Amino acid sequence: MKKSQINHNITYYLLVLLFAIFVIQLKAQNNWDDLAKVPPMGWNSWNTFKLNVNENLIREIADVFVEQGYKDAGYEFIVIDDGWQISRDKEGNIIENPKKFPSGIKALTDYVHSKGLKFGIYSDAGYKTCGEFPGSRGYEYQDARQYAAWGIDYLKYDWCFTGNQSAPDDYKLMRDALEKAGRPIVFSICEGGINQPWEWGRNIGHLWRTTFDIQPCWDCSRKIIFKGKEVEAFLGFTKILDQQVGLESYAGPGHWNDPDMLEVGNGDLTLDENKAHFSLWCILAAPLMLGNDIRNIPPKIHEILTNKEVIAIDQDPLGKQGIKVKDNGNLEVWMKQLVDGNRAVVLFNRSDVSQKIAVTWPEIGYPAHLKVEIRDLWEKEDLGRFSSEYEAEVPSHGVIMIKIIP
Ligand code: GAL
Repeated sequence: MKKSQINHNITYYLLVLLFAIFVIQLKAQNNWDDLAKVPPMGWNSWNTFKLNVNENLIREIADVFVEQGYKDAGYEFIVIDDGWQISRDKEGNIIENPKKFPSGIKALTDYVHSKGLKFGIYSDAGYKTCGEFPGSRGYEYQDARQYAAWGIDYLKYDWCFTGNQSAPDDYKLMRDALEKAGRPIVFSICEGGINQPWEWGRNIGHLWRTTFDIQPCWDCSRKIIFKGKEVEAFLGFTKILDQQVGLESYAGPGHWNDPDMLEVGNGDLTLDENKAHFSLWCILAAPLMLGNDIRNIPPKIHEILTNKEVIAIDQDPLGKQGIKVKDNGNLEVWMKQLVDGNRAVVLFNRSDVSQKIAVTWPEIGYPAHLKVEIRDLWEKEDLGRFSSEYEAEVPSHGVIMIKIIP
């Protein structure tokens, strides 16, 4: 064979090899994204139970998921938040609190899996969690291996006691550890939005918190001193909603803005406020993590949380986060693009009295003359054919949620 022919062959094989590496990497990336093609749905212990978690609670929640239609409505992950761990053994393995979890995390995971559900856990990138239990700092690979061995499907990873660690680097470290551990684990970045995770989280986690913690109230907040500055934390859902404006472009299949877990059914939120909170989280394509004690709730709250037509807006496969298209002070219109050119619209009345709110087609990207069908998603009723606009009376602190079908 001539020298030029040999060189030609080497170049050819090198190119094939490079292409194969590229395809393998692309595939790995796709598989990672596939873990959260639509926003994750589930339940998390924190909003109601704080550090008081135990295995009976988790088992009962898993039972209720199946018996009371949550699984059927699409909720899948049951996540224990902070407070499940106690210490590390001599080899550095993380240990669950034996008083709270006498049967061990593995048995609990098996139980949740036996119900056809997935199980999640919580840790922290610092040396301690926010509840001051052992964090994963320095144990990232060991913890990831442990989670994989237990059969964990979801990790919420917090950002307390992190000093001057770098958030992008440390979240990537845990992401790499999870990938190395070889089990598909949804990775939830939870650092309160303080390091603009929407800018770097896309290839690191499947969802990232955009704000400090949510509270079960309309617009409350508490001032805290953060890095020497006074900031508003512990926010009511309308305050969190306001902080989502402008983040829309960062979300999409495989990676989501997370405006925090649901407070529907908690605190003193009224029925209209609960409906508004749920509707708006669905318009935002937010992860839907229930945060209430679903073992014992009023039927009206159960109805909100399991309304499949509203949930379908959140889970729409196009994966577009909705936007605020009109804001007249207290009267707002939010719109989410759906597959097939449809739109979901929420008319949101923040004022203290019931008021009319209108949405016009140009405001949601349709030509004014377009004839559309409209369906009310809370009333589960077809409203008929409309052109140019739709107007409705919206209760105080409430919403009208419609689907518009051209
Ligand atoms: C906070 C986090 C909460 C909860 C809590 C646990 O940082 O935002 O959702 O996980 O820590 O201590």
